[in-house]
Amino acid sequence: MPIKNICCLGAGYVGGPTCSVIALKCPEIKVTVADLSKERIKQWNSDRLPIYEPGLDEVVMSCRGKNLFFTNDVHAAILEADLIFISVNTPTKNFGNGKGRAADLKYVESAARLIADIAKSNKIVVEKSTVPVRAAESISKILMANQKPGITYQILSNPEFLAEGTAINDLLYPDRVLIGGEESPSGKEAIEALCSIYEHWITRKNILTTNTWSSELSKLAANALLAQRISSINSLSAVCEATGADISEVARAVGLDSRIGPKFLQASIGFGGSCFQKDILNLVYICECLNLPEVASYWQQVIDMNEYQKSRFTSKVIESLFNTVTGKNICILGFAFKKNTGDTRESPAIYVVKTLLDEGASLKIYDPKVLESQIIEDLTYPAICESPEEVMKNVMICKDAYSAAKECHAIVICTEWDEFTALDYNKIYSEMMKPAYIFDGRKILDHQALVDIGFYVQTIGKRLNRPAELRCWNSSPGVI
Ligand code: NAD
Ligand code: UDX
Repeated sequence: MPIKNICCLGAGYVGGPTCSVIALKCPEIKVTVADLSKERIKQWNSDRLPIYEPGLDEVVMSCRGKNLFFTNDVHAAILEADLIFISVNTPTKNFGNGKGRAADLKYVESAARLIADIAKSNKIVVEKSTVPVRAAESISKILMANQKPGITYQILSNPEFLAEGTAINDLLYPDRVLIGGEESPSGKEAIEALCSIYEHWITRKNILTTNTWSSELSKLAANALLAQRISSINSLSAVCEATGADISEVARAVGLDSRIGPKFLQASIGFGGSCFQKDILNLVYICECLNLPEVASYWQQVIDMNEYQKSRFTSKVIESLFNTVTGKNICILGFAFKKNTGDTRESPAIYVVKTLLDEGASLKIYDPKVLESQIIEDLTYPAICESPEEVMKNVMICKDAYSAAKECHAIVICTEWDEFTALDYNKIYSEMMKPAYIFDGRKILDHQALVDIGFYVQTIGKRLNRPAELRCWNSSPGVI
């Protein structure tokens, strides 16, 4: 039977964009995105969407009110749906067994229980959230234990591979869509029903079908392998700084090997975002539970290297500023975890800012898309700070990069926003304290041009051309 009504539980970074694109490509299907949060749904129904994602506004505006709906009426949305995506959050557990590593599945479970309570007709339930291997079994158990007469459920795994900042493009032109399900006739029928939705815009050869557990594990594996590349290149960036090799040259040289490839080899202050750390910690926990300690510690190293990179970079900032930042003004350019998003979850900027604040610095922060309220929330969250008022005394949130840099001793680039490459650094230099420093944590600036202006420059994975004998604190401007 063709799918006529889709419901998505969870109107977040995945549920919102994914269902908007499905609505765009399947005009004959009614797509309802349901969330428990009143605030989030209000924003989805307003002119200012709750997330910033290039291209998203246009897609939502062209479908909303026609075949795309955002609602808090979870009950009605589940009742009328033929197919339900579970797109709720699966954060790292912060209590009890597996604290700090295991995925907290309470939202997935609550979604499954809602479906079990409300459903009065057959449903295909699709796990879109990233979950531990065999999570579909738990969803299935909850549904089957509460099954009403005559109602059947099929559970599919359909992990999402979109990256923030490029979500719409990733959804329109995915490398592949992955669908896992049971190998029984009804399992195959459910897989076909979901395939038929994606086939509105994706060719069949790019839709991969597997068994449920392979599909669940593939999502964790993809994120682990992507993050592993970043940790690998970041580990080599430390070798470059110690030897005089240049990490961009190394990345280019190795990336031209077609077996390695050029993507995801950009050295940085460390990876952030809501997925990589959470999903690797989850994988580590699963391996420990499966009594595979060697595998667990192998993947743990990817996280450890990321922590090392963040602290290595921040220590370098402090050391370069004569080992003290107390009372110094430091400008932070970028607070989001990557460009083209306003998302700050696990952003390395939070670590950098927090450490500099602990050292007594005064910070002026500018990010083109992150809301001031979000920065304040991140910096005063009880888990990282006991005295919010004290912290915010030393933080100013600025409206543009020029006012943020004015009268600062140093600029620290934490996010690779394009607009930071087009700034007038002559003007910025003239209004800064001297000596003026730039720490480019994203390797986006023209370092030699900055040195020529008079800046002291540091970046990741490269010692800039300054003769070793001149490398002392009182020498002329250049690179330390
Ligand atoms: P999110 O926090 O932005 O959104 C989750 C939403 O689910 C929230 O709005 C929350 O209120 C809602 N919710 C929780 N329980 C609910 C319930 N029972 N019924 C209805 N709504 C409920 O999370 P996200 O970033 O969209 O991530 C969702 C899942 O997708 C996670 O498992 C994540 O790992 C995975 N994922 C995320 C990305 C990404 O780029 N953010 C990419 C791929 C996969
Ligand atoms: C990631 C995965 O890419 C995506 O497939 C999955 O669905 C969700 O998790 P996301 O976290 O949104 O997506 O962004 P991504 O582009 O992967 O970047 C993650 C972090 O790694 C960012 O902080 C980014 O700046 C950093 N990064 C990325 C690097 O430091 N170097 C790189 O070469 C690439």
